[in-house]
Amino acid sequence: MNVAEAAAAIRRGELVGMPTETVYGLAANALDQRAVLRVFEAKGRPRFDPLIVHCADLAMAQDVALFSPRAMRLAALWPGPLTLVLPRMPCVPDAVTAGLDTVAVRIPDHALALQLIRAAGLPLAAPSANRFGCISPTTAAHVAEQLGEAAAGILDGGPCRVGVESTVLRPDPSPVVLRPGGFTREALAAILGEEVALADRAARDAALPSEAPGMLASHYAPRAPLRLRAPGEAWPASAALLAFTGADLPVGATAEILSPQGDLAEAAATLFAKLRRLDARGPRLIVAELVPEKGLGEAINDRLRRAAGLG
Ligand code: TXA
Ligand code: MG
Repeated sequence: MNVAEAAAAIRRGELVGMPTETVYGLAANALDQRAVLRVFEAKGRPRFDPLIVHCADLAMAQDVALFSPRAMRLAALWPGPLTLVLPRMPCVPDAVTAGLDTVAVRIPDHALALQLIRAAGLPLAAPSANRFGCISPTTAAHVAEQLGEAAAGILDGGPCRVGVESTVLRPDPSPVVLRPGGFTREALAAILGEEVALADRAARDAALPSEAPGMLASHYAPRAPLRLRAPGEAWPASAALLAFTGADLPVGATAEILSPQGDLAEAAATLFAKLRRLDARGPRLIVAELVPEKGLGEAINDRLRRAAGLG
């Protein structure tokens, strides 16, 4: 499907698979409650988990959200893998925000996504284009596998450059990351010149409606059970292994290596595709190791812990 066809489908209230720099989204007209409800239905996603609204420019973002001075400084970083949680405007349907008085908004850094939003002339609500609780898609083929039926079509933008979802940040009253992602906390703190906190599990749950607490831990899960390698533990012989650099992998292991050079950006970009590939081999168990907890490592480890059901 091309951009013009995708934009026409969006205007008819249908769903479109949309590439972004982070992961593929399942996009709908954010201002059309019925279209947005179709997204929840297609994903099997609980209604209490609100969606991100994707905009083409700041003017469009200001139609859906109210920007504080700190939010304006952060908006200067767009387009990019940063989502801001801001007070919502009345035009945003309850289905998008799960009834919260805030809305999550971002401008994606992907030419096709921006073309689609402009051609539709509408902000697009889009969660990651996977079935609820499954691994996020980083290629058009991943979207077709899980949600091909639900979408009017998929825009193929190739593999996603960043590979993990956007950083979700609430700027006020003081900046707090609700979900670590493609924009590192270190970079955000340097730009703002102040500390950027990372919400713990309890605080993240508290930011969502009351039905949510504890419900969202087992996100990003493969079909096979996944557990984390304990510090100092040798790689088990009988499992499929997800290694960071692979330096200490046993010869002949069933394994995927995230980055032989230990590059966190490369590891993030390939994480979900490699997890899918391991899972497709139908192993009894997947064992994954955490990466250094700095920079993009915060987002990678968050996804690995969730895949292990640890939240
Ligand atoms: O990179 C991304 O963010 C991708 C691409 C498609 O843009 N989208 C994505 O959407 O990951 P989704 O729906 O899988 O995750 C949205 C996250 C959820 O953790 C949700 O709880 C949070 O954003 N969120 C949305 N609105 C919120 C709000 N008003 N307050 C707090 N958290 C919110
Ligand atoms: Mg998701």
